[in-house]
Amino acid sequence: MEIINVALGGRSYNVHIENGALANIAALLEPYTAQGRLLFITDENVHGLYWDRINQNLSAAGVKAKVFTMPAGEASKSWHNLEAICDWLIREGTERTDHIVALGGGVIGDIAGFASAIVKRGCNFVQIPTTLLAQVDSSVGGKTAINSETGKNLVGLFHQPAFVLIDPDMLDTLPARELRAGYAEVVKYGLIGDADFFGWCEENGGALLAGDKAARIKTISHSINAKAQIVSEDERELNGRRALLNLGHTFGHALEAETGFGDALIHGEAVAAGMALAARYSVRKGYIEHADAERIARHLAHSGLPVHLSHIEMQTTGTKLAAHMQHDKKAVQGDVPLLLMRAIGDTFMSQGTDLADVAAFLDDELAQS
Ligand code: NAD
Ligand code: GLY
Repeated sequence: MEIINVALGGRSYNVHIENGALANIAALLEPYTAQGRLLFITDENVHGLYWDRINQNLSAAGVKAKVFTMPAGEASKSWHNLEAICDWLIREGTERTDHIVALGGGVIGDIAGFASAIVKRGCNFVQIPTTLLAQVDSSVGGKTAINSETGKNLVGLFHQPAFVLIDPDMLDTLPARELRAGYAEVVKYGLIGDADFFGWCEENGGALLAGDKAARIKTISHSINAKAQIVSEDERELNGRRALLNLGHTFGHALEAETGFGDALIHGEAVAAGMALAARYSVRKGYIEHADAERIARHLAHSGLPVHLSHIEMQTTGTKLAAHMQHDKKAVQGDVPLLLMRAIGDTFMSQGTDLADVAAFLDDELAQS
């Protein structure tokens, strides 16, 4: 068992990581049930796998929890579902002292977090992440959002949870493709500032993806420690530190938008392809050695992740992909900064992006398909 504190002054909170924690959920959530009710938001897959067990454990402790279940998948992170969740919470008579519990992957965490921030101008919020991606990244840090017609995560706000409960055993039921997608966000921590951890990933990523429990715990613990440190230094992405976590995301979000936010390319896969593209664009700009970019792509590809545009089914052009980037949240006065690399473990934010050059680069990448 490990407890990691996210240090944010009066909004600090703990991340509790423990194999089998779910069996003890009523006791672990007792500080929150003492303050009010628990209102769970989950998706159909997670509901089917875990809700009965959770509800029985809570009921046995005298806790009557409510649950709202929505369809699984990225397309659910929508205005429509945000409205449905908010209306449900209000109909249930949710009060600010109640805790809204996100039980699921990053989709559920992002939309439930958003709803909890706006219902009654802000309710308490707990995260129980159930995917690798959510257990290593999205459940910590308070970013909440939905997608809109115009792009990914463009509507949202910061709202920190009061507690994050991670049971790595829940990954036993996660489909292999989702595990691999979450692994892209793990590799990201190595690429942004920890070359030794990237080396560890090269040696141990295979074991993690095969279900090795020791590799799993080390991966989650290392990632959450890294994320907690970054978030406590730059909660609202204002000083450049937290922006590093967006490595691969500007390219990745464009790919997600172009493939329609669906099963063709799931978020972690888009991040993997985006990181490989960012590395090769860094080569084009003369920042990183070709061999390093190759090493990054080799490890991601070896982990079953897409690293070339030919690995993604879509009809597009460099110009169309670059056009999606214009909506990037990091843009200042029209400039879309890009996260590029000088070396493995040395990511930086490059200003003055020439989107026409990015489009030409992407056309070259598409031509290699
Ligand atoms: P997801 O939430 O769609 O979950 C992936 C799939 O796994 C779903 O079908 C889900 O039902 C299923 N699933 C979840 N837990 C399971 C389990 N234990 N066993 C079996 N199936 C399970 O996707 P995700 O990859 O977790 O999250 C992606 C989202 O996270 C994206 O929308 C992305 O933008 C967001 N994100 C947010 C942040 C942040 O800081 N807020 C960071 C990274 C990503
Ligand atoms: N996953 C990016 C962030 O939390 O800032």
